[in-house]
Amino acid sequence: MSSAPLIDPFGRRVRDLRISVTDRCNFRCDYCMPAEGMKWLPRDQVLTFEEIARVAAVCVGRFGFEGIRITGGEPTVRAHLPVLVGMLAELRTAEGQPVDLAMTTNGATLALLAEDLRRAGLRRLNISCDSLREDRFAAMTRRNQLGRVLEGIQAAKAAGYDQLKLNVVTVRGVNDDEAVDFATFGREQGVQPRFIEFMPLDAGGTWDRSKVVPASETVAAIDAVYPLQALPQGSAPAQRYRYRDGRGEVGAIASVTQPFCGSCDRIRLTAEGQLRTCLFSTTEHDLRAVLRDGSDDDRLAGAIAAAVGTKWAGHSIGRSTFVRPLRGMSQIGG
Ligand code: 5AD
Ligand code: SF4
Repeated sequence: MSSAPLIDPFGRRVRDLRISVTDRCNFRCDYCMPAEGMKWLPRDQVLTFEEIARVAAVCVGRFGFEGIRITGGEPTVRAHLPVLVGMLAELRTAEGQPVDLAMTTNGATLALLAEDLRRAGLRRLNISCDSLREDRFAAMTRRNQLGRVLEGIQAAKAAGYDQLKLNVVTVRGVNDDEAVDFATFGREQGVQPRFIEFMPLDAGGTWDRSKVVPASETVAAIDAVYPLQALPQGSAPAQRYRYRDGRGEVGAIASVTQPFCGSCDRIRLTAEGQLRTCLFSTTEHDLRAVLRDGSDDDRLAGAIAAAVGTKWAGHSIGRSTFVRPLRGMSQIGG
């Protein structure tokens, strides 16, 4: 089978698929979900592992996608997740290349799962952790489980992943004084903190520009204690920095103050099989219908290509034209 790159209307090559495997979560982070009253998708509306793997196989085999990231909700609350990881780890591009298989998790169940997932073929992990202080962590996630997440980080270290990152969403007046603590933690533990600006994707609709901590401020705070040197930026949204003393790296994702839409190479598949070409899309493309109506892979590939043909240039957070997407982050997948 020959493969052809998928190019969007703005000339960007799309090569990264983010797959949300569930909309459910065992946390209730304030910037993502409401405290109560989330309505979960009924099971029959959620894609099966076979359906997910079929979409992924088309993206990798026909379009030469190079990366797949598993997300949620919280992906590890989906039963038998290592089985799906095993299926995705087997995928090869037309040139015989495996994909860079990664996952974003809140870490609460990693003490149990890190090793199984690694053995199934998962290569890299991003663990979300927004505070190293127990009371704050509990307030931000509405679950008192910092201890379990720290155990999860240790389990992930022991399981030998190629790379471990800590996703830290910074919110003004909430955790904006912890950048240096995270840097110290990362240097000691050999994990890479990545500071993410708070985006208007919270279910509660409380986002406000004044709550965004510019990535530049976070980086300056760290640089004052541990001098940093910027590394060349690739297609990754994070601007990476190395410590001048060589003890690792940090990343900063300026999604609001310096959008990286110009180099965006990703599309997203929601748990119920809707393809989204941007985090902030207000339209979706129903791949589940194509998966379930007897269409062959040519039709499926055509539907994916048609969706990519609608990918827009970028979001407009901060401008008057910005429209919030109807879904929150947990329903999109990070
Ligand atoms: N703004 C920025 N990041 C967010 N995440 C969830 N909600 C938001 C938001 N409103 C992060 C999570 C996780 C990743 C999937 O996205 O903390 O690390
Ligand atoms: Fe769950 Fe992640 Fe949303 Fe927190 S940010 S509630 S861990 S899906």
